[in-house]
Amino acid sequence: METVVSGIRSTGNLHIGNYFGAIKNFIRMQEEHNCFFFIADMHALTTHPKSEDFKQSVKNVVVEYLAVGLDPEKSTIYIQSDVPQISELYLLMNMYAYVGELERCTSFKDKIRKHPDNINAGLLTYPVLMASDIIIHKATKVPVGKDQEQHLEMARNFVNRFNHLYNVDYFPEPYAFNFGENLVKVPGLDGSGKMGKSEGEGNAIFLSEDPASIRKKIMRAVSDSGPTEANQPKTEAIQNLFTLMSLVSKPETISFFENEYNGCSIRYGDMKKQLAEDMIAFTAPLKDEIEKLHSNEKYLNEVIAYGGEKARESASKTLKEVREIIGFMH
Ligand code: ADP
Ligand code: TRP
Repeated sequence: METVVSGIRSTGNLHIGNYFGAIKNFIRMQEEHNCFFFIADMHALTTHPKSEDFKQSVKNVVVEYLAVGLDPEKSTIYIQSDVPQISELYLLMNMYAYVGELERCTSFKDKIRKHPDNINAGLLTYPVLMASDIIIHKATKVPVGKDQEQHLEMARNFVNRFNHLYNVDYFPEPYAFNFGENLVKVPGLDGSGKMGKSEGEGNAIFLSEDPASIRKKIMRAVSDSGPTEANQPKTEAIQNLFTLMSLVSKPETISFFENEYNGCSIRYGDMKKQLAEDMIAFTAPLKDEIEKLHSNEKYLNEVIAYGGEKARESASKTLKEVREIIGFMH
């Protein structure tokens, strides 16, 4: 049994990309491993959310974690800021992270491009906080989507540097994990890139979204004017629609549209209608469960208090040992 850690930033509701990139594996892993799944509320502060929105987003993620099937008896479910040991380890780990490597990180460069007016130090050291989240429980496996691969490589650099500096074999190396398969990148509806909350209105389908809105978004998804010869390679936008179908539709449905495409008789309107219905059928039971849980405040508070306690217990053991290795007096 290995130790597993993963988290999702609480910047809104969970979408299909989060589900197939990360959460589907959380659910599978909790059956076999010692799992810690948290809500990265401190990571969400880089965008300066208003307190009320911030609180609501954290609650949404707790609810959605439970609605998809994370079980507080099987895995430790907690809020990052409820475990102060993570913050202390983050401060310490900052001493072993070099500014140059942080500046070269792709996600940091992306943020600079998208938000040149808010390049705060928290963004620069985001990978250090993420590494601290993972190594505070000495985890080896981290279920995440493809976009997080570089952050894990950085985490391995930090732990190796720490181990080397103090001549210990203390922290294990953490690796991104997807049951031996390639890491997943779920495309968005805008014809390029990945599905994401911050990629623009209409690009993501949320687990809590109502059917009318799902239909509208999918019908508006970018497509093209259609193939003109048999077996023509697909454009990115069309490949994305097929990729989304592969997540939620039956194999017969997918091969039907593949054949239509290859024979140049495909009607994208029909394909999108089918994709929308299959997406709705997939999300409907989750949406129901999300609505039920939202009204059960007492249960949510119990889950979070229980998870926080278990996470602090594991975290304080690590932090105590790290302090000894570094040479603090107490
Ligand atoms: P967002 O990109 O919407 O802000 P997060 O960055 O909070 O979402 O991602 C949380 C988790 O979900 C990470 O493990 C990330 O790799 C995964 N994830 C997010 N979007 C996708 C996607 N489009 N495809 C695959 N995995 C994704
Ligand atoms: N950086 C991750 C994301 O944006 C969220 C995250 C924070 C995380 N800490 C983590 C993921 C630790 C895995 C492990 O999606």
